[in-house]
Amino acid sequence: MLEVGGLGYSYAGAIAVRDVTLRVTAGEIVALLGANGAGKSTTVRMIAGALRPQRGRIVFDGQDVTTAACHDMVPRGVALCPEGRLVMPQMTVRENLLMGGYTQRDRTARDAAMEEMFAIFPRLAERRGQVAGLMSGGEQQMLAIARALMSRPKLLILDEPSLGLAPKLVRELFDLIRSVNARGTSILLVEQNARQALRISNRAYVLEKGVTVREDASEKLIGDDAIRSAFLGA
Ligand SMILES: Nc1ncnc2c1ncn2[C@@H]1O[C@H](COP(=O)(O)OP(=O)(O)O)[C@@H](O)[C@H]1O
Ligand SMILES: [Mg+2]
Repeated sequence: MLEVGGLGYSYAGAIAVRDVTLRVTAGEIVALLGANGAGKSTTVRMIAGALRPQRGRIVFDGQDVTTAACHDMVPRGVALCPEGRLVMPQMTVRENLLMGGYTQRDRTARDAAMEEMFAIFPRLAERRGQVAGLMSGGEQQMLAIARALMSRPKLLILDEPSLGLAPKLVRELFDLIRSVNARGTSILLVEQNARQALRISNRAYVLEKGVTVREDASEKLIGDDAIRSAFLGA
């Protein structure tokens, strides 16, 4: 479904992504792990069309989308839930969701997507008229994910969704990611929380200084000594 090869990006001459190669097959959860500054966010922003790659190629569903922008990638079926959530704080839950569903011109389809989100996220349903900025961090994260899902993506990219959440909420979030995947959405998951990410993913990539240095089945990486000492604190 997604094939990324030899991706490169520099910010004003400073190399952030040097050589990233990865793929996501339909139905998978794929984790992207790496230390702070390894280039994870830059990589997923290129895939989602928020940054234009300076090197390499991105193919989605058999089409070359290397130079496609976000507004082109969303209708193709790629949605990014960015690092730091970025929900609109002054808007209500409902208004935030409507922004995620902007690609659906048909109001009935949009309303149906919103009802589906309220079924998956009951707490958002209770707070549909509430201003997003007044909700807890966990609720805002759920809203950010629901907003990305409003476009009914084939591939949902989550950039550090568990950042700053209490442990109980982190478990809830990972359960939710699993259930979204079980409904048929492929997931590319960027995480600092490597242990949890490896538990729910099929495969994982490790990014070091802008280069994908490892790829393996998640269950193999969990038991790997180098991965344990680098990411799992053991
Ligand atoms: N907007 C930006 N301008 C300049 N440098 C940036 C910008 N965003 C990220 N960088 C740099 O690019 C490198 C990779 O960052 P990033 O992709 O955010 O890594 P990660 O998500 O793995 O923490 C880092 O050295 C970071 O400081
Ligand atoms: Mg990041």
